[in-house]
Amino acid sequence: MMEDFKSQINADNLPNHIAIIMDGNGRWAEMKGKPRVYGHKNGVTSVKEVIEGCREIGVNYLTLYAFSTENWNRPKMEVRTLMALLVSSLRKELNTLVKNNIKLNTIGNIENLPEKAQVELAEVVEKTKNNASLTLTLALSYGSREEIVNVIRNISKKVVNNQIALEEINENIINNHLYTFSLPDVDLLIRTSGEKRISNFLLWQIAYAELYFTDTLWPDFRKENLFNAIVNYQHRERRFGKTSQQIEKIND
Ligand code: IPE
Ligand code: IPE
Ligand code: MG
Repeated sequence: MMEDFKSQINADNLPNHIAIIMDGNGRWAEMKGKPRVYGHKNGVTSVKEVIEGCREIGVNYLTLYAFSTENWNRPKMEVRTLMALLVSSLRKELNTLVKNNIKLNTIGNIENLPEKAQVELAEVVEKTKNNASLTLTLALSYGSREEIVNVIRNISKKVVNNQIALEEINENIINNHLYTFSLPDVDLLIRTSGEKRISNFLLWQIAYAELYFTDTLWPDFRKENLFNAIVNYQHRERRFGKTSQQIEKIND
């Protein structure tokens, strides 16, 4: 039996935005003597668990790294299965998302996805656009460097067209041109499977996120693992460059 982490969560200090690098599906399957895609299929259960977990405790934003720009370089058959899994999961979960007041959002180069996936995503985004309990963002064909290149292009265009003055460019303007323009900064970034790297995910947005790495492989990740990560997060002091004494004063 796992420890009861949920009861240890302080409702006044929840991370507003949790982002997860869902890693380890392939190794999970290989350990069981199964093909890698078996791990991806089982990873869907973990996705449902973390969505439910966020709703139970009242986290506002959850962003999941589902497919990176670099993942296009995987074997064709694996990419195809991942895309098919995306389509079937969206179809199966649409009603649950609507019922649970969850808003679906996407970040990444969505035009690169197969037509079917784009259609399905557009439908779910449209049907959940007025929902307000949890904003669930799927990072699909997402790469942070590509995102930043696009930001620079788009802002430069506006400068050339005299829509923005060079002096006006600031962090806010950059934020507003990122795929994540409607999302707050990430507070807690979780990566499963024991890898301790960022793999081109939300480089700008995690500037002051707390990082949490766990050896648990993604298909084994359950609500309690999420709650454990949140409890761990709540035991940290976020200083944002200040001293500990300054932070204690604010908390008085
Ligand atoms: C994460 O699991 C899922 C995706 C990247 C799509 P992996 O497929 O990377 O699993 P490992 O890292 O090979 O075990
Ligand atoms: C990162 O996982 C991308 C996703 C979780 C979707 P990878 O397994 O592709 O990352 P690297 O390449 O091992 O760093
Ligand atoms: Mg991996």
